[in-house]
Amino acid sequence: MPGKILIAGGTGLIGVRLSEMLIDLGYEVAHLSRDPEKLPSYKTFKWDPQNGYIDANAISYADYIVNLAGANVGSDKWTDERKKKILSSRVDSANLIYRSLQENEHHVKGYITPSAIGIYGNSGEQLMSEESTYASDFLAEVCKAWEAAAWQMKELNIRTVILRLGLVLSNKGGALPQIARPIKLGAGAPLGSGKQYMSWIHIDDACRIFIRAIEDPQMEGVYNAVAPHPVTNKEFTTELAEALKRPLVLPKVPAFALNLVLGEMSEVVLTGQRVSANKIMQTGFTFEYNYLEEALESFYEKNFN
Ligand SMILES: NC(=O)c1ccc[n+]([C@@H]2O[C@H](COP(=O)([O-])OP(=O)(O)OC[C@H]3O[C@@H](n4cnc5c(N)ncnc54)[C@H](OP(=O)(O)O)[C@@H]3O)[C@@H](O)[C@H]2O)c1
Repeated sequence: MPGKILIAGGTGLIGVRLSEMLIDLGYEVAHLSRDPEKLPSYKTFKWDPQNGYIDANAISYADYIVNLAGANVGSDKWTDERKKKILSSRVDSANLIYRSLQENEHHVKGYITPSAIGIYGNSGEQLMSEESTYASDFLAEVCKAWEAAAWQMKELNIRTVILRLGLVLSNKGGALPQIARPIKLGAGAPLGSGKQYMSWIHIDDACRIFIRAIEDPQMEGVYNAVAPHPVTNKEFTTELAEALKRPLVLPKVPAFALNLVLGEMSEVVLTGQRVSANKIMQTGFTFEYNYLEEALESFYEKNFN
C-alpha cells in the first residue's frame, strides 16, 4: 500500500518528523521546498510559491500531497508586511499546487493540509467542535482563507483533508522550547489570566493523524487535531515546571506586559480555545499521548533540555 508522498514545507518542524515516520512505514518521501539544498538527504523538488514557480515533476511524482508550507506565525512581530506574508504564503502555495494539478497529468489521490484551531478565536471554556462558529480576528481570517484554498482540490476530485492543528509539542522547535525557557531560568509564570485554554497535541500524534489521513479513504473534510484533554495556561505552566523540576516563582505575567513585548502576536498566548478531539477519535484514531503529563514526560524525562 505505501506510495509516494510529496511534502511541501517538509523541511519544517512537523515535516521532518512526518518524513521520518512515513519512511519507517515504507513510504517514499520527497519534499517541495524553496531551497532544495536545505535538507539534501531528501529527494527535493524546487518551488517558489511567491513567484508562481513549481517544478512540474513534483506533481507527477506524487500519490499524495501534504502541504505544510507557510511563513512561521510565532517567529516575528506581526507587522503589516509579516501578516501579509503569513496569509499569502499559505494561500499562494495551495493555489499554485491547484493550478499545477489542473495543468499536468497526475495520479494524486489525496491532498492533506493543516489549518489551525485559531479559526475558533478566543472561545473561553466552550468546547469547540468542527461545526462551531469561526472568529474574525487575524488568525481566524488566515485559517478561513487557507481552508478555502485547500477546498479547491475537491473540484479536481482529489480527496481533501484539513487538519485543524492545536499547539504542536516537540522539544526540537515550535512553542514548547520557548515556553520552557523562562521556566528553566527560574522566571516561569502563567500568562495573562492563566485561564485561557491550550489545546495541545504531541508532535508524534499530529504526524500519526496526517498518516491516517493519507491511509484512510473514508477521511475527508475537516478534523480538529488536538489531544483529548486540553488544559488552561496555568495548568500547562505548572505541569511543565514540574516536568522540568523547577519551581514557578513569579506571579502571572500581566497581559499589558506581553502586549508591549509581542505586540498583536500576544494574541497567540493570551487567547485560547478548548477544542474537542471527538471527531478524529470517532474515525478509530487513538492517541499515544492523551494527557499533557505523558507528553511532557516523553520530552523531559531523561534529559532536561
Ligand atoms: N507547529 C504548530 O504548533 C502548528 C500549529 C498549527 C498549525 N501549524 C501549521 O502547520 C504547518 C507546519 O508547521 P511547522 O511547525 O512544521 O512549520 P515550520 O517549522 O515553520 O515549517 C514550515 C515550512 O514552510 C516553508 N515556508 C516557510 N516560509 C514560507 C513562505 N514564505 N512561503 C512558502 N513556504 C514557506 C518552509 O519550507 P522551505 O524553506 O523548505 O520552503 C518551512 O520549513 C504550518 O503551516 C503551520 O502554520 C503548525
